[in-house]
Amino acid sequence: MTNMQKALFIKEIGKPLTLDTRPISSPKEGEVLIKVNATQVLPHDTASRDRGLFVQGHLPAIPGHNIAGIVQELGQNVTEYSIGQHIYGQGEAVAVIPDSSGLQEYATLPINMSAPVPEGFTDDQMATLPINATTTFCALFLQNWLGFPAPFSTEAKTFDYGKEKLVIVGGGTNCGKLAVQLAKIAGIGTIVSIASLSGEQNLRAMGATHVVDRHSDD
Ligand SMILES: NC(=O)c1ccc[n+]([C@@H]2O[C@H](COP(=O)([O-])OP(=O)(O)OC[C@H]3O[C@@H](n4cnc5c(N)ncnc54)[C@H](OP(=O)(O)O)[C@@H]3O)[C@@H](O)[C@H]2O)c1
Repeated sequence: MTNMQKALFIKEIGKPLTLDTRPISSPKEGEVLIKVNATQVLPHDTASRDRGLFVQGHLPAIPGHNIAGIVQELGQNVTEYSIGQHIYGQGEAVAVIPDSSGLQEYATLPINMSAPVPEGFTDDQMATLPINATTTFCALFLQNWLGFPAPFSTEAKTFDYGKEKLVIVGGGTNCGKLAVQLAKIAGIGTIVSIASLSGEQNLRAMGATHVVDRHSDD
């Protein structure tokens, strides 16, 4: 494997991406290097290119933070994956690190922001998932957002999730469905999803305790 790769760069805000080359990175402890098979250009990526969101002062940057591909190299002490395995995950979008961006041939992914591609799914399919989950996770569990304790936090041990009520407007969206599932995992007692009733059965199976018809005038 050569140590250089092709990548698409944001070199100047408000200008088209530039095709150029850069070195292939080595995975650090807790990371793996993957051959990128699939990535997505997300709304924040176009905002990065057009107005510098997250990348101002960090140019050149590389967009694409939903990534799936094949493990090439394991960082020190990584035992969770094996070479040749298909994994997917999210590179660092906010504290921009070009090594973990998808619009290049090889990218590094942290173990704690990735997972194996499940049987029956393709890399293309799984590359659509991560940002939906992280956005929803932030909405529920970050302190300045809804601020529920994350289920794995110390605070969670004494927090009474069962007493909590959550109303999800836009419950039929991808983020809304993930919110239902994360709320269920956390143990929130009342989970109200406002969505089309065509999705009611599905939403209840995911954990919604109530589904309110978003088309109703009542
Ligand atoms: N996806 C992300 O990672 C992400 C990140 C940041 C912000 N956001 C924002 O989060 C919102 C949801 O994004 P998404 O990607 O999860 O959406 P999505 O999956 O594309 O949502 C489509 C669904 O939204 C529901 N819907 C349509 N119009 C609605 C309305 N007026 N009120 C309530 N629900 C309506 C419909 O479901 P039903 O007919 O079944 O109700 C429709 O099938 C958007 O505002 C998006 O900009 C998303």
